Amino acid sequence: MIKGKFITFEGCEGVGKSTQIRMLKEYLKTTNQEAIFIREPGGNSISEKIRELILDPANSSMTSMCEAMLYSSARSQLIEQVIAPALDNGTTVICDRFIDSTIAYQGYARGLGVQKIKLMNELVCGDYMPDLTIFLDLPPSDSFKRKGGHDKSDRMELESIEFHNDVYSGYIEATKLYPTRIVRISPRGSKSDTASAIIKTLQARGLIQ
Ligand SMILES: Nc1ncnc2c1ncn2[C@@H]1O[C@H](COP(=O)(O)OP(=O)(O)OP(=O)(O)O)[C@@H](O)[C@H]1O
Ligand SMILES: [Mg+2]
Repeated sequence: MIKGKFITFEGCEGVGKSTQIRMLKEYLKTTNQEAIFIREPGGNSISEKIRELILDPANSSMTSMCEAMLYSSARSQLIEQVIAPALDNGTTVICDRFIDSTIAYQGYARGLGVQKIKLMNELVCGDYMPDLTIFLDLPPSDSFKRKGGHDKSDRMELESIEFHNDVYSGYIEATKLYPTRIVRISPRGSKSDTASAIIKTLQARGLIQ
């Protein structure tokens, strides 16, 4: 039986996911609340190897479906090996990217179809769907400015601005598919303003204290 809470963070490149997860980690630590923190794709040795394969700029010939399947395979391994045991044990799990990234990137921006990718990933996730997803809502035209450009070792980041604009539109589609699970939070304010908004949202849903 699932006893722990499952929270994921989503958004375009550079919107502040890692920053906000770090700040939430600090808050949970100072308030003595236990949680584990993982990132996608990765979080275990098999999924980290799949991550290298997906993000390697040398793999520019990878098909969209191969990419979607690899992300989903890495997710499946992460769920069985890390997420499910933690949640079954009552531990809170916080994950940097999850199912909605695949819906936005592969389903929408790569054009595979959001419904198809949603179905495939619901199969992969089974009962282990997030309780709540924080979508940091900032378009790529703004988020890449924060990052100071693209990371050249990451095949996804090397995609065109049009592709990243499509990813943003894909996230908006995902919010329509899951209107109660996905909460849109603007990261336009300061880092601490955004962190406070996230903590309030998680408290209001009874996911943290
Ligand atoms: N609210 C904010 N205001 C200004 N700058 C911010 C804010 N939040 C994050 N940043 C800065 O934006 C940059 C990107 O942040 P971060 O690495 O957390 O984003 P990310 O969503 O994890 O990116 P990626 O998709 O590459 O993992 C960092 O330099 C960070 O310090
Ligand atoms: Mg990050």
